[in-house]
Amino acid sequence: MNEVPLCLTPEERAMLAGEMGVALRRAVEIVVALGKIYGAHHLIEVKSVQVAGVSYKNLGEAGLEFLRRWAAQGARVRVPTTLNPAGVDVEKWRELGFPADFAHRQQEVIAAYVAMGIAPTCTCTPYLVGNLPSYGDHVAWAESSAVSFANSVLGARTNREGGPSALASAICGRTAAYGLHLDENRLANYRVDVHCPLRTISDWSALGYLVGRQVHNGVPYFVIHDDRSLLPAPNAMPDDPSVDGLKSLGAAMAAVGAVGLYHIAGITPEARQSDVLRSDAHRIVVDDLAPGYAALDGDPERVDLVSIGCPHASPAEIRQVASMVAGRRLRAALWVTTARQTKDMVPEAVKAIQAAGGHVVADTCLVVAPVAQMGFRSLATNSAKMAFYAPSHSRLRVRFGSLEKCIAAATSGHWD
Ligand code: F3S
Repeated sequence: MNEVPLCLTPEERAMLAGEMGVALRRAVEIVVALGKIYGAHHLIEVKSVQVAGVSYKNLGEAGLEFLRRWAAQGARVRVPTTLNPAGVDVEKWRELGFPADFAHRQQEVIAAYVAMGIAPTCTCTPYLVGNLPSYGDHVAWAESSAVSFANSVLGARTNREGGPSALASAICGRTAAYGLHLDENRLANYRVDVHCPLRTISDWSALGYLVGRQVHNGVPYFVIHDDRSLLPAPNAMPDDPSVDGLKSLGAAMAAVGAVGLYHIAGITPEARQSDVLRSDAHRIVVDDLAPGYAALDGDPERVDLVSIGCPHASPAEIRQVASMVAGRRLRAALWVTTARQTKDMVPEAVKAIQAAGGHVVADTCLVVAPVAQMGFRSLATNSAKMAFYAPSHSRLRVRFGSLEKCIAAATSGHWD
């Protein structure tokens, strides 16, 4: 604990004294405790929250009971709040083969969150479904890939919140002013010169893997030298196809390291507005992505399941998969995971994927779904985050490669 006193407003002191109810007192106690640990001088009002800790696979009975009790005490969110992926597709769980008992417990978890006033978006891409902070907004987001996107691509400000701390922030409308909320912690301490082209989601993913394992929780500043790279225009909207690579880059670095913020010269908003590179920054050079591909790729020859959409697929990604599987008959299961709202935006693409035998799966993702219980043993993906987590979280053997290779595996059932 540091010795700096945490200054609270009269309203925050009233919350802490329990004058505004026990639920609010518990919330502000969590935020204040974190503020004291990290040496914050004050609390900040947040504009929105993204809550993680939704899958029953991770929460179990104890987590469900914790949520129910807080809701019963009167916990209600004070700011717009969205929800991370759950453990099932809440509409198609039977058709997809999810265990019934698991699906019912999962729906009780979602109901507890809804009772608190949280929107059951069940996605790790809240910025694609209406939770879209503006530049400079302070928010309190959990879900490391969404945190990275909010800080880096949108220029909003959030720490990497955990499930309980994000929920506490939603209930009291505050977070503590430390870490990435402060200007000085947003400067880059690594300069990364990239000399190879970044043309696909898997290229950006492999880059994220290589850099994330070197910078840990640092702030990298990328200089992309190869003009064959697919880079978004400044001010491109989050659903622009050119932004999908940045979504995957951030997700990979957040999973492999603990990166919550990155900058790209001339592209990301803070890097366009000011000099964000520290003069004593370490240097990293990346001129080949092959080591990243090799490290993420395992050895199964048979592929049971192909996963596209980690982070959750954008409308453009779903359309691209649809165009690639149109007229084919798939031999492996294909899950394109996305937000339900995103799925509803592209009905024709969803139909084309279903006609080939694939699924556009909403509300969940393979890491938080009970896929081992469902009989899957091997996975192909174009996401470094998924390839990194699936062996430990879902007991799957993994192949990692381009979208083309993944769709070829879905078609043949093998990784060539
Ligand atoms: Fe999202 Fe699941 Fe990947 S939460 S970022 S799809 S591991």
